[in-house]
Amino acid sequence: MTSIDLRSDFIARPTPDMVEAMARAALLPCGFGPREDETVSRLEALAAATLGKEDALFVPTCMMANQIAIHLRCRPGDVFVTEGDAHVVTSESAAAAALSGAMPRIIPAVNGALELPALAAALDAGDAQRARPALVVLENTHVRSGGRCVSLRHMHSVGDLAAAKNVPVHLDGARIFNAAAALGCPARDLAAYAETVSFNLNKGLGAPLGAILAGPAALIAEAVRIRQMFGGGWRPAGIPAAAGIIALETMVDRLADDHANARRLAGELAAMAGIDADPAATETNIVLARPTTMTPDALTAGLARLEVLVLPFAGGVRLVTHHEITTDAVDTALAAFRTVLAGG
Ligand SMILES: Cc1ncc(COP(=O)(O)O)c(C=O)c1O
Repeated sequence: MTSIDLRSDFIARPTPDMVEAMARAALLPCGFGPREDETVSRLEALAAATLGKEDALFVPTCMMANQIAIHLRCRPGDVFVTEGDAHVVTSESAAAAALSGAMPRIIPAVNGALELPALAAALDAGDAQRARPALVVLENTHVRSGGRCVSLRHMHSVGDLAAAKNVPVHLDGARIFNAAAALGCPARDLAAYAETVSFNLNKGLGAPLGAILAGPAALIAEAVRIRQMFGGGWRPAGIPAAAGIIALETMVDRLADDHANARRLAGELAAMAGIDADPAATETNIVLARPTTMTPDALTAGLARLEVLVLPFAGGVRLVTHHEITTDAVDTALAAFRTVLAGG
């Protein structure tokens, strides 16, 4: 029996088209210099055009893309303004402090949307006793709130406030295409409010690995040096880049299916005894559910015995849909929840 793995969308395996493209790329000559590989250059041009940015850089992980963006703008002693549940704060091993000498200035937020008066105050450079605000970091979709979307209007407001203070914005768009699908706009509309944007090729888009940092040409040129400094000067990278091209070309338009599956999971879980879930809060491909009669760990272990894998997360469990989670897999997962919650 093959398990149904709902722990994360990075678990999704590449599609047959990606595997074929990688096999073809493996036989092409490799570029030698950091920007000389033809397949990588095609991916970077496609990513830049998709997001409406001048240039883009292929990097191993979205965390590296985020940390390069922070390093591009923050000097030691600077702060980047963000919220406490941002991935750059919760899950990047204090890399901004270690690699850039930068500290987050945490302001209140709801589901990734920053409190605007607090943002305005945090962007005020103040006097010499205060750290310099050098960057704003937004995250869309917002993973710790369960893949909630930050609205275009909010991104616009953040962009305007930051621009008025001459502070650039970085968008951690690990799942920007999920946000765009849910908000009904092209990803470039979300990217427009940020100077730099990162996104994963290997989450909802299903590539085996890799991420992108997109932005102005001069910054991306500098990002090549920082990527090297952070150990990310990967060569040859044409094989994963080939899968990334297929991901961007073929996997964006189907994300709405993942969102529909997530909503159905949330709706049916909400109707079960012993677990809380909120279909209205399930805007993209992440479902947060909270068991009420057993611990998240016990639920996770019970489901695992039935070959359904979920992740204990934020006091509950997390389920993430992706292209390998079919409607049949959703039915099987829901049956497993019923069995475990009934004490079976
Ligand atoms: C919002 C967000 N940003 C960044 C990352 C980091 O991605 P990676 O695992 O490619 O470093 C993740 C990973 O889950 C994420 O959810």
